[in-house]
Amino acid sequence: MIPVVKTVEEARKYVKAWRREGMSVGLVPTMGFLHEGHKSLIVRAAAENDCVVVSDFVNPTQFGPNEDFETYPRDIEADAGLCEAAGAKLIFNPEPSEMYHDALTTVSVDKLTKVLCGKTRPIHFDGVCTVVSKLFNIVMPDKAYFGQKDAQQLCVVRKMVKDLNFDIEIVGCPIIREEDGLAKSSRNTYLSPEERKAALCLSRSLVMGREMIGNGEKSTRKVIEAIKAEIEREPLARIDYVEIVDLDNLEPAEDASGHILAAMAVYIGKTRLIDNFIIE
Ligand code: PAJ
Repeated sequence: MIPVVKTVEEARKYVKAWRREGMSVGLVPTMGFLHEGHKSLIVRAAAENDCVVVSDFVNPTQFGPNEDFETYPRDIEADAGLCEAAGAKLIFNPEPSEMYHDALTTVSVDKLTKVLCGKTRPIHFDGVCTVVSKLFNIVMPDKAYFGQKDAQQLCVVRKMVKDLNFDIEIVGCPIIREEDGLAKSSRNTYLSPEERKAALCLSRSLVMGREMIGNGEKSTRKVIEAIKAEIEREPLARIDYVEIVDLDNLEPAEDASGHILAAMAVYIGKTRLIDNFIIE
């Protein structure tokens, strides 16, 4: 059975032993309750590295005061089974006290974190950057794997790695979806059957927007309006944001050309879901 370690010291022992044998190390940071989306990252990491560490930590500092830290789903035993099957060698599953005890340091990336999800979740990316930096320093991987599902997070982490000179390659991985198009997410478990159906408006409207652009529509304003109109047809949905931005700096893109990210956050009932597509 795959080892599950709770302390920084134990995690480092494993990694140091692998390093002594000249093995390469991949890291897949997660908050657990793992699904096929996480699995795709682990499988890729296992294909590209000798040893893979999965961190499984519901990070309190990235949740706002009225968010779902307490209720976020957890199942370390199921996670261990999935990690082992996907080819991981170690799970790091610390308690918040082990990660933070009396910490006074925050890692903060400016600008990129103030837009899109950062508007509704003002402390979120500070929490993400701080915990990801700590995980990088604990595991010191050659490569770390992140999903395009959280496209803004991927963009922010890439910038942080560049700015702070982490000697780590960041690998972005495609979004894994349910058969009907819904992006896989640990938070999908919050949805009632009726909400689960309503949640399809995210992927459906994005497919439609992508088609508009594919058919030659250049005005991002028109594409955004059409996407919003499609979501608004769903009574259980409430839009947080729908935006089309430049993939490099996350600033609004006027033209649907070049590298763009079309991203959205939509509440289905009380559950906030995100989805996006990228055109490179
Ligand atoms: P979490 O939401 O558990 O996601 C862990 C990783 O899995 C992220 O890189 C995310 O983009 C990826 N992922 C989630 N759903 C996916 C899907 N449907 N397809 C592909 N990849 C998917 O993101 C976090 O945790 C945290 O913010 C973390 C980076 C671990 C820091 O606490």
